[in-house]
Amino acid sequence: MPTLPATACSVALSLGICLSVLGTTVHAQLPPSPDSLATGAQRYLGAASCAASNCHGGTTLPDSGPKYAAHRIWIKDDPHSRAYEVLCDERSQRMTARLGWQPAHKEARCLACHAVAENPSHTFSSSFQVSDGVSCEACHGPAEQWLDDHSRPQIWHALTVAEKERRGFRSLEPLELRAKFCVTCHVGATDREVNHDMIAAGHPRLAFEYAGYSAILKKHWRLEDDQFQASGEIGTAHASTMLDTQLWLIGQVATVRATLELTRHRAESSEKPWPEFAEYRCFACHQSLTAEGSPKSFIDWANNPALWDVDRAGVMPWQPASLGAIGFIEPEPPLVVGPLRQLRSELGNWHPDRGITTQQATAALQALDHLTLTSQDVATPVRVLNRVGAKENHVERDWEHAMQAYLAVAALSPATSKRQPEFLAQVEILRQALRFKAGTDSPGQYDESRGQTIRAALDRLHELASTSPTDTVPPPPTRQP
Ligand code: HEC
Ligand code: HEC
Ligand code: HEC
Ligand code: HEC
Repeated sequence: MPTLPATACSVALSLGICLSVLGTTVHAQLPPSPDSLATGAQRYLGAASCAASNCHGGTTLPDSGPKYAAHRIWIKDDPHSRAYEVLCDERSQRMTARLGWQPAHKEARCLACHAVAENPSHTFSSSFQVSDGVSCEACHGPAEQWLDDHSRPQIWHALTVAEKERRGFRSLEPLELRAKFCVTCHVGATDREVNHDMIAAGHPRLAFEYAGYSAILKKHWRLEDDQFQASGEIGTAHASTMLDTQLWLIGQVATVRATLELTRHRAESSEKPWPEFAEYRCFACHQSLTAEGSPKSFIDWANNPALWDVDRAGVMPWQPASLGAIGFIEPEPPLVVGPLRQLRSELGNWHPDRGITTQQATAALQALDHLTLTSQDVATPVRVLNRVGAKENHVERDWEHAMQAYLAVAALSPATSKRQPEFLAQVEILRQALRFKAGTDSPGQYDESRGQTIRAALDRLHELASTSPTDTVPPPPTRQP
């Protein structure tokens, strides 16, 4: 990790003092079980093992940074610490009752994302409590074989990432790795998913956008470290713009990858519902059939051939939230758009073929492997608006697409631009136009007048970005060793 000169010494010093004490205690209490060493299975110890006041259970001290308060921040301000608790509430219990499953707090299919679930590769020490929810070890890895070394800074800092990982520690520092991990729960993975059955039983739909979710998560690490990683700078407007831009880009790729892997897995697993409705646009099916309630299409489809292959009547439209903006932002010549279109077209059939879907998802994943998106090439506001916000894409046609455009421009607001206040004012107009109507928790009321507001704001943003191109294009990150 980038060690920051200003505080590195005090951090190392205080670590040295506090953790070596804990190290001996922990070692005495928890010798690694011979079994687990032999088999490579690593035990989870529970969040309490991290919570000593001189380790991660402290208060934030001016010099030491948030990591000493990690446990308190997690308990107090991080929803992950309540992820198990919500399984006990009435809503969750109703959900599993409707599904005919075990009560939510005992159901492996819920615990998979809301806690460290029991499964054949997980073993637990007696101090571990499933009620810790998405706890330290859920993210940082089972601690049995790394806690001891971790609590001795001289040893810990001398270990390579690979050596730490061999002990069960999960490296989350690189923003890419972190994103790949967040999406395992926030999009889904081969061993965990939120499908339409669960949504119909009451689960909120999953819609993840990395920059936005990173912004609202109360951090127990230094934001400056992330900024440094993205820009080689700390605390400047440029550093914060670069961080948001990178998070957005990295998140687009990670979300699409996780979506494709999940689609492929669903296609391959003959016991899973198929087609999986959660992968399609909700309002394609959920429409009121009364004249009053039916959403009026305000796009002139006949004159927009660019939209025909994906959104014409009779085609099941894919969920824009999982697709993100990737198809619009990749550099020329495009690698991913082609395979994605083919996949969309197969999934657009009422009876998509499982085998063809599997092949096409694999092709799209391979294309994604070859895609390199750099903020230089693609993620400047003007470029994104040129593509995502282009008139012919008609993102204003429905809430889902408009939301993707909003997330893109919100993440890319140029903090370095002199036009920033104007830019932000337009982004705020977008946000307001996307709000759910009071008393509803669905975008069902999205209509033509909101669509027009969105179009006007995107056009104005485009104008702003193109008339001040030099100060909206962030210079390349200059990484320091
Ligand atoms: C693939 C991972 C995953 C699985 C499996 C899963 N959840 Fe969730 N759940 C989430 C995520 C992520 C959120 C937060 C969604 C958001 O705000 O973006 C969430 C949110 C919730 C919420 C709303 C919490 C709140 O604070 O409003 C409830 C309730 C819930 N889940 C219950 C369940 C139950 C019950 C099951 C099993 C039937 C289940 N979940 C299975 C990932 C999952
Ligand atoms: C939802 C996932 C998640 C949970 C839960 C979580 N962390 Fe973290 N933690 C992260 C991420 C992401 C980072 C930033 C990347 C990094 O530094 O590894 C981080 C960073 C840290 C750091 C700073 C490391 C450094 O070198 O600056 C510490 C210390 C830490 N976490 C301790 C904890 C403790 C203790 C808990 C439980 C009370 C916990 N974390 C729970 C995801 C999580
Ligand atoms: C082990 C599964 C898991 C992982 C990994 C995970 N989350 Fe979560 N996350 C959840 C669940 C479950 C919830 C819902 C908790 C609740 O509301 O009770 C949640 C909630 C959140 C929320 C609150 C959402 C809201 O609507 O307020 C944010 C923000 C968030 N996660 C960000 C992240 C980020 C960023 C990462 C990666 C560093 C991450 N999560 C990794 C399971 C996970
Ligand atoms: C291909 C059509 C289709 C798509 C796409 C679809 N659904 Fe459904 N949905 C249905 C049908 C049909 C039912 C009724 C299922 C039943 O009763 O078993 C249903 C039931 C539901 C219910 C329960 C409503 C109730 O009154 O019982 C909810 C909530 C729901 N869907 C949400 C969603 C969300 C959110 C999405 C988008 C992620 C979505 N649906 C996508 C067809 C669809």
